[in-house]
Amino acid sequence: ASSIVEKFYSMEYGPAPEDASEVNKWLDAHKRSFGHYIDGAWTQVSGSSFETRNPATGEVLAKIATADASDVDRAVKAARAALPAWQALTGHQRARYLYAFARQVQKHARRLAVLETLDNGKSIRESRDIDIPLVARHFYHHAGWAQLLDEEFPGYTSVGVVGQIIPWNFPLLMFAWKVAPALAAGNTVVIKPAEFTPLSALALAEIAQEIGLPKGVLNVINGDGKTGAAIVEHTDIDKIAFTGSTEVGRIIRKATAKTSKKLSLELGGKSPFIVFDDADLDSTVEGLVDGIWFNQGQVCCAGSRLLVQERVAEKLYDKIRSRMETLRVGSPLDKAIDIGAIVDQIQYDRIKGLVETGVKEGATCWQPEVTMPEKGLFFKPTLLTNVHPASTVAQEEIFGPVLVSMTFRTPAEAVELANNTTYGLAACVWSENINVALDVAAQVKAGVVWVNATNLFDAACGFGGYRESGYGREGGKEGMYEYLVPVHAERKTAAKTLPEPVIDQPEGFDEERSAAVEFGIDRTVKLYIGGKQARPDSGYSYPVYDRNGQLVGEAPLGNRKDIRNAVEAARNISAKWAKTTAHGRAQILYYIAENMVQRRAEIVAKLAAFVGPEQAAIELDYGVERTFAYAAWADKFEGSVHNPPMRMVTLAMKEAIGTVGILCPDDAPLLGFLSLVLPAIAMGNAVVAVPSERCATLMSDLYQVFDTSDLPGGVVNIVAGKASELGKTLAEHDDIDAIWSFRDEAASAMVKLGSIGNLKQVWTNEGRSIDWFDPAQAEGRYFLRHATQIKNIWVPYGE
Ligand code: NAI
Repeated sequence: ASSIVEKFYSMEYGPAPEDASEVNKWLDAHKRSFGHYIDGAWTQVSGSSFETRNPATGEVLAKIATADASDVDRAVKAARAALPAWQALTGHQRARYLYAFARQVQKHARRLAVLETLDNGKSIRESRDIDIPLVARHFYHHAGWAQLLDEEFPGYTSVGVVGQIIPWNFPLLMFAWKVAPALAAGNTVVIKPAEFTPLSALALAEIAQEIGLPKGVLNVINGDGKTGAAIVEHTDIDKIAFTGSTEVGRIIRKATAKTSKKLSLELGGKSPFIVFDDADLDSTVEGLVDGIWFNQGQVCCAGSRLLVQERVAEKLYDKIRSRMETLRVGSPLDKAIDIGAIVDQIQYDRIKGLVETGVKEGATCWQPEVTMPEKGLFFKPTLLTNVHPASTVAQEEIFGPVLVSMTFRTPAEAVELANNTTYGLAACVWSENINVALDVAAQVKAGVVWVNATNLFDAACGFGGYRESGYGREGGKEGMYEYLVPVHAERKTAAKTLPEPVIDQPEGFDEERSAAVEFGIDRTVKLYIGGKQARPDSGYSYPVYDRNGQLVGEAPLGNRKDIRNAVEAARNISAKWAKTTAHGRAQILYYIAENMVQRRAEIVAKLAAFVGPEQAAIELDYGVERTFAYAAWADKFEGSVHNPPMRMVTLAMKEAIGTVGILCPDDAPLLGFLSLVLPAIAMGNAVVAVPSERCATLMSDLYQVFDTSDLPGGVVNIVAGKASELGKTLAEHDDIDAIWSFRDEAASAMVKLGSIGNLKQVWTNEGRSIDWFDPAQAEGRYFLRHATQIKNIWVPYGE
C-alpha cells in the first residue's frame, strides 16, 4: 500500500469544466447566426458568410455574415451621421456611457469569459481572471478621460470617424483597447474583429445596445482581410487603428499613404526575456510561464526570446524543463489547465513549420511528456536551445508556445542581442541588481520593459512598439492623443486622394545652366554634414533667385549619396546626443539663439531677398524666441509615473526617436526650419533636414550659427536640393527612424510610401499650411510629442 505522501504526488487533477450553458443559450437565442451591428441594429445574414469554430473541439459555434464594400459603406455612413451629436455631448455625458459599458461588462463577466474561451481556445482561467477584468478596467479608465477631456486636452478635438481592425489573440481586450479611447475622445467607430474570433465583439455590440449608446456611434462588422481592406480604403474614414501582423501593417501603411488618414499600428514582436546570473531563477521560471505560455504564446509582446547569462543557462534550462513537465494542456474550459488550444489550423501549421525550421537550422528541440488531448488544436509547450541569433526562429515571430533560447556573457552583449531584431515591442529584464536591470531597461529598444515581471498591462500605462512593431500607443494619456487632433489641424473636408508623387525640380532649376556652373565659385553655399561643410557629391549647384527673379547665389544640389552620408553622420551621433543631459541640450539651444542674435543683420538681409524685409525681421525674431522656447522645454517635457493596481510603478519615459528626416516648408524658410529642427534636437534626436529648396542659400548662415554654438557635429545635417528626390531617399532609408514632411500633399504621400520598408514613424502636415508665426500652432507640446516616443518601464515597487 502506498503512503499518503506517495498518493499525494501521484494524484491527478480531475476535470473542472466551466459551465457553457449560458453561452449556448445566448448563441441559440441568436439562432447561431450573426449579421453586422450597424446604426444600432443587427443586419440579416444574407449573401456570403463564414463559420466560426471552437478550436478545442472543431465544433461550429455560429455562422457569421461577411461584410462587403457596401456593408462597410453603410457602417461608415452611420458613423459619420452619428458623429456631430456624439461630439457635441459633454465629456461627462460620454463618460456615463463608457461607465455603463464597464458596469455591463462586469455584470456579464462570466458569459463573456466563456464565450471568449469557446471562440478563441484560450484557457478560462485567463479569460476570466485577466482579459475580462482588463476590459472592464479599460472602460472605467476611459470613462475618466472622457470626463476630463476639456481639462486635460485643451485645444484638441476628436479625429472623426475611426476604422479599427483587431486580431484574434485577445478579441475582447483589443476591442476595449480600441473602442474605449476612441469613444472617450468623441469619435465614432467602425470596428472589425478577426475572422477567427468574431463572437465576443458581437456580444459587446449587444452591450452597446443595452446601455443605449446612440445608434451609429459604434458599428461592428465582420469579415476577413478583404473586409479589413475595404475599411482601410474607405474614403470617409479619418483614422485607421490596426493591431495584427507587421505584414498587414505594411499593406495598410501603403493603402493609406495617399490619403490624410491618421494611422496607428500595433504590430508583431520578438521580445527578449533577459535573465542575468543574479536573477531569482524560480521567479524567473514563473515569469517565463506567463511570458511565453500565456495564451499559448499567441501574444504580440510574448517573451519569446530567452536570453540567459551563460553561467546560469543550464541551471535555468533544468528548472524550465521541470516546470514545463507540470504545465497542463487541455480543454480551455477546464479551470485547472494552463495551456488551451491554438486558434486555428493555419496558425497551428505555421507554428509547427517554424519549429521544424528551427530544428533544421540546428536548434535542439525539447518538449515535456505531458498528457495531450486526443483531438483539437493543441501544441505542446516547446523549448528550443542552441539557437543561433541569426536563425529563422530567433528572428521571426512564431506566435505559439515556443520558447527560443540564446546565451550571453556580459550586459553589453545582452543589450546587443536584445536589440538584434527588427521589432521593438517589449522586453523583460530579470536581475536582483537594480543597477543592472535599469541600465539594461534604458538601452533596450522596446516600448514596454518589465523588470522582474512580464506581460503586465493596465489601462493607465501606454502600450506600443518601437521600430517595426508599429507606432502609436494604446492606454494612458498617450493613447488618447491617437484619437485627437489639435483644433487647428482638424480636417475640414473628407479624406481626399492625394496626387501621385512627382519628382519635381526646384523652381528656377535649369539643368543646363546648373551643369554649367563650376562648383566652388564664391557665393556657393555648401551642404552641412557631420558638422562640416561638404561639397555635393554631384558637383552641381543650382541657381537661387530672389522674389524678383534676380540671381542671388547658388545652392548645392544634394543627391542620394549626400543624404546617405548625412544619415550616417546623424546615426553616429544620435545615441550620444540622446544621452546628453537635457540641461546640456538646453544650454546649446540658448547658445544657438544667442548666435542668431549676433548675426541678425546678416541673416535678415539674406532672408529679405526671398520674403521681403518685414517678414525677414519677424522670422528671425520669432526664430530666436522659438529657440529659447525649446531650450526651455528641453528639460521640462518629461515623462510620468503611473500607479497600476499592482505592486509596481510604471515609469513612462519620453525617449528620443533616433534619427529624424525633415522636409522643411517654403513659406517661412527660416522659421519653418527652426520650428521643426529645434524640437527634434531638443528631445535628443539627430536630424537630416532638407531646407526650402527655393531659399537654400540661407543655410550657410545657419550652419555657421550651429558651428559656433557647440552643437556636436552630425546632430543637425542640412542637405539642399530637390526636396522630392531627397525626401524620397530619406523616407526609404532604413537608418531614419522618423520622417516629417511639411510641404505639399504630394510630399506627404511620397514620404508615407517611402516609410513602408522599416515602418518608420511619419508625421506630415497633409499639405495644410501652418501659421509658423502662431506659437499656438507651430510650437510646443504638439511638436515635442512627435519628437519623442514613450517607453513604459514597469518596476517592482512597494509592499
Ligand atoms: P493578420 O494581421 O492577417 O490579421 C489581423 C487582422 O487584420 C484581422 O482582423 C484580419 O482580418 C485583418 N486583415 C488581414 N488582412 C488585411 C488587409 N489586407 N487589410 C486590412 N485588414 C486585414 O494576422 P493573422 O494572419 O491572423 O496572423 C498571422 C501572424 O500575424 C501571426 O502568426 C502572428 O505572427 C501575427 N499576429 C500578430 C498579432 C499581434 O498582436 N501583434 C495579432 C495577430 C497576428
